[in-house]
Amino acid sequence: METTVAGFADRLFRAALGMTDVLAIHLGDRLGWYTALTSGPATPAELVARAGGDERYAREWLEQQAVAGILAVDADGRFVLPPAAAEVLTDRSSLDYLAPLARMLAGAAAQLPALLTAYRKGGGVGWDDFGPDVRESQADMNRPWFEHALPGAIGKIADLDAALSAPGARVLDVGCGAGWSTIALARAYPGATVEGVDIDPPSIDLARANADVPNATFRTGDAGSLPEAAYDVAFAFECVHDMPQPVGVLSAVRRAVKPGGQVIVMDEAVADAFRPEGDDVERLMYGFSLLICLPDGRAHTPSAATGTVMRPGTLRTYALDAGFAGLETLPIGDFGFWRFYRLTR
Ligand SMILES: C[S@@+](CC[C@H](N)C(=O)[O-])C[C@H]1O[C@@H](n2cnc3c(N)ncnc32)[C@H](O)[C@@H]1O
Repeated sequence: METTVAGFADRLFRAALGMTDVLAIHLGDRLGWYTALTSGPATPAELVARAGGDERYAREWLEQQAVAGILAVDADGRFVLPPAAAEVLTDRSSLDYLAPLARMLAGAAAQLPALLTAYRKGGGVGWDDFGPDVRESQADMNRPWFEHALPGAIGKIADLDAALSAPGARVLDVGCGAGWSTIALARAYPGATVEGVDIDPPSIDLARANADVPNATFRTGDAGSLPEAAYDVAFAFECVHDMPQPVGVLSAVRRAVKPGGQVIVMDEAVADAFRPEGDDVERLMYGFSLLICLPDGRAHTPSAATGTVMRPGTLRTYALDAGFAGLETLPIGDFGFWRFYRLTR
């Protein structure tokens, strides 16, 4: 903790510099300017010729990016996107693709008037109100993990892999968002039928548009209302903490899975207990919670008001209240910001 005035002022100043980076990155991302720079160095005029936009603003943005050390400048005075920055800012398949993080924070910041009202009076700001920036950045941020890391991670859990590999396995993915987890599971287990369910119709529209495998299907619906004993395995990827009624949903999921079936929850890898001066994961998750997840959960009544920082003990309580016998943490390490739990029956 900073204990001097100068030290704390410096901390805030550096945070403001970081915020200008994040907002400027959001501009470049949405304008397609980073992508345009992947085809080579550019002057402001060349950039707008490639990607559109206003030349005077493009010059200011390019200079800001160079001053911030994101872009380089070549001997001809053209602006260059270095390979490392290009991967983080434009490569949608990279596990280090983080342009969506800027989009998510910018999308949340756009709701600050509504957030202030909620903080003053209670209530919330719903997922739909956050709109495409938050919905799509959520999907884009998780997509590379689902596509490139999920099959390998699940493959290491022998009994889960066996259940998914059984011919005709029926798999449920609740809170599937834009469907990348459902699609990744369907690709990895072609003999299974994987059904994504989400309460948010625009998410299901995205999922259907993204789906390129016949064994991934999608429907709009409340995960609190599911067919009974219909599935061999059910997943909930990074969504239980958003749900206003997590116990109701987990109860429905427990009933929806056949006897002997498995229920897997992936959620934030936060610490076991609150502690001041947490690590970067705690700081980021509290940030998401303040700006998105807690207000989203509280946009409904009644609401468990979980927030992003759903600690293992909280999930255990929800699981027990939903009729599960308990929960175990699966030995899947080094998987982004997440931890995998199996709810035991
Ligand atoms: C943070 S997003 C996660 C989306 C996706 N699983 C992913 O990892 O990218 C949470 C999702 O849960 C969905 N959701 C919230 N409550 C739900 C409910 N009761 N039934 C189904 N989906 C729900 C939201 O619409 C949203 O798409």
